[in-house]
Amino acid sequence: MAQIRLDRFLGEMGTGTRTQIKELAKKGRVSVNGQVEKKTDRKVDPAADTICVDGRPVAYTRWSYYLLNKPQGVVSACRDDRYPTVVDLIQDADRKDLFPVGRLDIDTEGLLLITNDGDLAHRLLSPKKHVDKVYFATVEGRLPADYAEQLAAGLVLEDGTRTLPAELTVQREELTFQKEELAVRREGDEGRFDVLLTIREGKFHQVKRMFEAMGCRVAYLKRVAMGPLKLDESLAPGEYRPLSQEELAKLDIRS
Ligand code: URA
Repeated sequence: MAQIRLDRFLGEMGTGTRTQIKELAKKGRVSVNGQVEKKTDRKVDPAADTICVDGRPVAYTRWSYYLLNKPQGVVSACRDDRYPTVVDLIQDADRKDLFPVGRLDIDTEGLLLITNDGDLAHRLLSPKKHVDKVYFATVEGRLPADYAEQLAAGLVLEDGTRTLPAELTVQREELTFQKEELAVRREGDEGRFDVLLTIREGKFHQVKRMFEAMGCRVAYLKRVAMGPLKLDESLAPGEYRPLSQEELAKLDIRS
């Protein structure tokens, strides 16, 4: 495999920042193939060389996969001049090649996969694959009585495009109106209700535009599932963890 700098190797594997790695090496705590190495700009072959810190081998993993609970106020990009990015939140590894699989709006929370595996991103995002994405939304307004039929047929958005069939379940018991009740609710008799919406494509602002097409407004949006991955509710917004072996297997990734 191609050679890379020792400090890049250790940084990508989460040993620390470049400065911290330099310090470790200066103290004689880094070795390459059994020899203490103080020069962190030297090249190593991650596949062939044995690199140790404090005598413990650092295994090289080419691919990284993190499940992030995206908070609001952070953009789904690798770099941005104005806002922090989702990639900035990943502090484990100093990898330069991480990117988010798809985009969530700045005010949307929830499941976002961060990886450097372009093949996986393609499999999850390709419009041909129709991967399920499930969103929890708090919605303001009043759903049309035939919302289920409209969603199943595909909604026509404001720009004339039609969405693929989608499913919606109203969440809160007291707000799970029967169709007849929805039909008789009067103007001004509008409230907030929580829903789960499953869509199979990823148009720009799709969920918000779908509710607009039904005369409603999304007040809060969180993605709770994408393909076989579910949001880990133990992660607070802004927290992340590596994917588990089970999750990797569900994505057909063999380590
Ligand atoms: N749909 C939206 O409107 N926004 C998102 O962030 C994701 C899906």
